[in-house]
Amino acid sequence: MLVIRKVSDLKDFTKSAHAAGKKIGLVPTMGALHAGHLSLVKRAVSENDLAIASVFVNPTQFNNATDLATYPRDEKADFRLLEDAGIAAMFAPSVEEVYPSGQDEHHQFDLGGVAEVMEGKFRPGHFQGVAQIVSKLFRMTDADRAYFGEKDFQQIAVIRRMIETEGINIEIVACPIKREDDGLALSSRNRLLTPEQRMVAPGIHKVLKESVEYSRSHSVKETHDMVVERVNALEFCDVEYFEIVNGRTLEAVEGWGTDTVGCITVYCGKVRLIDNIRYR
Ligand code: PAJ
Repeated sequence: MLVIRKVSDLKDFTKSAHAAGKKIGLVPTMGALHAGHLSLVKRAVSENDLAIASVFVNPTQFNNATDLATYPRDEKADFRLLEDAGIAAMFAPSVEEVYPSGQDEHHQFDLGGVAEVMEGKFRPGHFQGVAQIVSKLFRMTDADRAYFGEKDFQQIAVIRRMIETEGINIEIVACPIKREDDGLALSSRNRLLTPEQRMVAPGIHKVLKESVEYSRSHSVKETHDMVVERVNALEFCDVEYFEIVNGRTLEAVEGWGTDTVGCITVYCGKVRLIDNIRYR
C-alpha cells in the first residue's frame, strides 16, 4: 500500500489510474480506525478497481478545541488495517498540505436545510468544515464512488446536497451502522470512555430499539419523550438532542410516515456519542 502525503502525488496517482480505465472508490476517515470504518473500506475494495482511504483529522470541522486536541490518533495501526484490507493508497496529509493558505477559505457551501438542524444547530460550522474537506477530497481524487456510514446519518444528507450544489459527479454509497456485540455503535470516541461509562453506553441503543416497539402504539411525541427520559436515566448520560425526522429532508415529523429516523446525541460523561434508528 502506498502512503501519499502530498496533494500533487495524490492527483498524479488517481490520474494515471483513471487513464488506465480504473474505477476509484474513496473512503474518507479521520483515522483511529475500527470495524465500522473497515466495513466501508471492505466494500470500497470489493466494488472498485482501486480503493483509496484518507486519514486526516480535519481541524475545520471541529467547533471545540478540546475535542480536536483529544481526538484519538494512531496512524501506525491505521496503516496496518488499511493495508490488510487491500487499500491501494492511504492519503495522510498534514494540515498545511490540505490548507496551504490557512483554514479560513471564505467559500460558504450552500448546504440547505439539512445542515441547519440537529448537528448543525449544536455544532455551528461543523458541516461547512465537513463540506470543505470532503469536496477537496472528491476533487483531488476524482473518485467514482465514495463510501460513508449511516452512523453519521445527517452527514450523508449534507454531502449529497453539497455534491449537487457544487456540481461534483460522484456516487455516494451509504453503509449500515456497525455495532459492538452489546449494541454500542462503533466510534473512534468510544476509546475515550471510562470502563464504567463503557458499561452504560450500550443502553443508548437498547433504549432506541425499545422505542421502535413502543412507537407502534404511541405517538411521535410520546416516543420522543420516552427515549429522552430513559436515556437521561442512564448513569453518566445526558441527552443533547433527540429528534424524530424525515430521513430525506431531516425535518422533524409530527406523525409516523414512511422514511422516519430517530437521531440522538448523548454526552456520556465528557464523550459525545451519536446514534440513530429507523422507525419506518
Ligand atoms: P470519521 O468519524 O472517521 O468516520 C469516517 C466514516 O466512517 C464516516 O462515513 C462514518 O459515518 C463512518 N463510520 C464511523 N463509525 C461507523 C460505524 N459504527 N458504522 C458504520 N460506519 C461508521 O465522518 C468523518 O470521519 C469525517 O466527518 C469525514 C467524512 C472523514 C470528513 O472529515
